[in-house]
Amino acid sequence: MEKFIIIGGKRLKGSIRVGGAKNAILPILAASLLTEGISTIHEVSRLLDVQVMKEVLTYLGAKIRCEGTTLMIDGSSVQTLEIAEDLMRKMRASNLVMGALLGRFGQVKVAYPGGCAIGSRPMDLHLKGFISLGANITEKHGYVIAETNGLRGAAIHLDFPSVGATENLIMAATQAQGQTIIRNSAKEPEIVDLQNFLNGLGAKIRGAGTDLIKIEGPTRLGSTTHTVIPDRIEAGTHMAAAAITGGDVVVENVIPEHVEAVTAKLREAGVEVEVGDDRIRVQGPPRPKAVDLKTLPYPGFPTDMQSQMMVLMTVAEGTGVISETVFENRYKHVDELRRMGADIKIEGRAAIIKGIPKLSGTFVEATDLRAGAALVLAGLIAEDATVIENVWHIDRGYEHLERKYVALGARIMRVNGI
Ligand code: UD1
Repeated sequence: MEKFIIIGGKRLKGSIRVGGAKNAILPILAASLLTEGISTIHEVSRLLDVQVMKEVLTYLGAKIRCEGTTLMIDGSSVQTLEIAEDLMRKMRASNLVMGALLGRFGQVKVAYPGGCAIGSRPMDLHLKGFISLGANITEKHGYVIAETNGLRGAAIHLDFPSVGATENLIMAATQAQGQTIIRNSAKEPEIVDLQNFLNGLGAKIRGAGTDLIKIEGPTRLGSTTHTVIPDRIEAGTHMAAAAITGGDVVVENVIPEHVEAVTAKLREAGVEVEVGDDRIRVQGPPRPKAVDLKTLPYPGFPTDMQSQMMVLMTVAEGTGVISETVFENRYKHVDELRRMGADIKIEGRAAIIKGIPKLSGTFVEATDLRAGAALVLAGLIAEDATVIENVWHIDRGYEHLERKYVALGARIMRVNGI
């Protein structure tokens, strides 16, 4: 198992480029299963989660060619309509193939998905939506089977604006007879990217980015070329890293409006944030000020940036409160941060963080992707050495994070074993 050893205390300085958004790549790869044509996708970051999704696609029979960060996916030979448990367990987002396979073949069987251990992550909204579109759902021996003799358009109201359910239903609805309307849909930028990709293939989808999406079906889908949007969570993580180290970093390849919630919070914490067209310069103060924040669906503050902002608050001046409203139990990083000296109390869904002058390095464990990223940031500002175990969690969503930060002056080593 690989670990990171971080010697804290360096200010980050320089430029850092953000890759294509993990949470856009995964649904887009799943959506490529809807067509017999060729999907050429640029800016596909080399992430562990993307690797798993490629394995899923290959297992189903798709042919994938890879040139740098461009993938060419040929969906013509897809035959398998079932995903075995081991693949599903590797990543929750594997459930995104359901909408595509149900749409194209009228049938799909998947094991209940795995993924980050951040609270119960049911699939009821996905399945209720499929039923509204005319699918039969059965659940047996840990598998979900969805079948239909033909999907038909429907008006669907999501109880909660679930990102995955919105994406799955959009995909299935492209092949349903008539119009589908999804109300209270998630508004995340990654859904707009999925819409753009599918419309490039020939789908007729409008409204992504709002809470009402309309899909006209069925449409015959062909081939397309698409460039994935930059990863707003990767960008936000680098912004937080610059801020807490008192650094001066230009984050390149970012869509500033996608990170507005993070920009606003950092400014509130006394961080200098200069916004350009596709870059953001972040200059950290000697010590940030405590802030309060509440995670919410987009355009609210992203839950995927909660743990990184918590690190900032552990060393801020004053006391701040975080309310996690999207996922229950998304505080696994708290125990690890406490081991580094942080003063954090959990009360239900709230975390109360009292800033201290310095964290101290020790042995900690990445328990999920964003918790792992937070520990890297904590290591950057801690006294002495921080050793982070299970860095594969970090590799799920960041391409060689340690190399990127070393290029900015950080001292991080990736080591095997010990
Ligand atoms: C996606 C992101 C993840 C991000 C999350 C919230 C991808 C691959 N992952 O995850 O990084 O943290 O959005 O921004 O894009 N829920 C239900 N029933 C359902 C589906 C969801 O109750 O059928 C609940 C979940 O338990 C959770 C909340 O809704 O509490 C949000 O989940 P959802 O928006 O679906 O997140 P994901 O699509 O899994």
